[in-house]
Amino acid sequence: RSIWVRVPGTSANCGPGFDSIGLACTVYNDLQLQLTEAPGCRITINGAGAGNIPCDDRNIVWQSVQYLLKKAGLADTYKGAIIHMENNVPLSRGLGSSATAIVAGLKGANALINNRFTRRELLQFATDIEGHPDNVAPAIYGGFTISTVTRGDVECFTLIPKMRLKLVVAVPDFPLSTKKAREVLPKEVPMKDAINNIGRAGMLVAALCKGNEKFLRNVFEDALHQPYRAKLIPGMYDVFSAAKKAGALGASLSGAGPCLIAYCLQRRHVEDAVGQAMQEAFARHGVKANILSLE
Ligand code: HSE
Repeated sequence: RSIWVRVPGTSANCGPGFDSIGLACTVYNDLQLQLTEAPGCRITINGAGAGNIPCDDRNIVWQSVQYLLKKAGLADTYKGAIIHMENNVPLSRGLGSSATAIVAGLKGANALINNRFTRRELLQFATDIEGHPDNVAPAIYGGFTISTVTRGDVECFTLIPKMRLKLVVAVPDFPLSTKKAREVLPKEVPMKDAINNIGRAGMLVAALCKGNEKFLRNVFEDALHQPYRAKLIPGMYDVFSAAKKAGALGASLSGAGPCLIAYCLQRRHVEDAVGQAMQEAFARHGVKANILSLE
């Protein structure tokens, strides 16, 4: 018996919500999974990242399948798997490609063992594997998610915003590993920067819940990670300004980057202009970027 699982790409942080806020967007990876009693995995991949994703024991889908089977005490029953991936989420660009792989592996394996684990338990496993919850939570629950980790215990609140948003994503033609983008972060941050983010993160969530767009004007600004990562993404702040000038509510680094994401109101119909402005701003810094218009 084999199963298909579809998992969305995600954008983490959403400006002020470092390691806690995330959203699911309309770009997807599909996984076909079959568990086998015979040991070993057979992995084939089409689309984004094919050729760069390992097809052996280092494969994240396969590792996540094994993780779940071990938790269920079934690692000796199913020693292998046949895995096929159809990928659309760009690899190592800040749209949660590793989270889609983790969640697809966990969800697929769970479905094949009769959904032994709840969604909440899958979120805990996925967070333990990835190390932070803000991509895996929206990949599992959809919508916007706010996640906290308390002494290892993850909790997640999910919401569908009360306004229609368009997400314009500029995808640079170079990858950036999350590991590298986390290494440039400081261990401690100034109190005023923490205050900056607490207020904005709270206001972002409240405005999305209430549908009160006028409070979204400045909430996407961040002081905890973007300033340190700017040197890894040439032109980042110019691209943010260009997006805003073209009519976006605001823009932020998508996850650890290098993608930049602009948040637009659907009814304003500005996404084409915003995409073009972002692309041109990146080009002025010598960066070639593709534009994805998502929801
Ligand atoms: N919150 C994480 C980070 C997301 O910014 O490092 C990584 O995808």
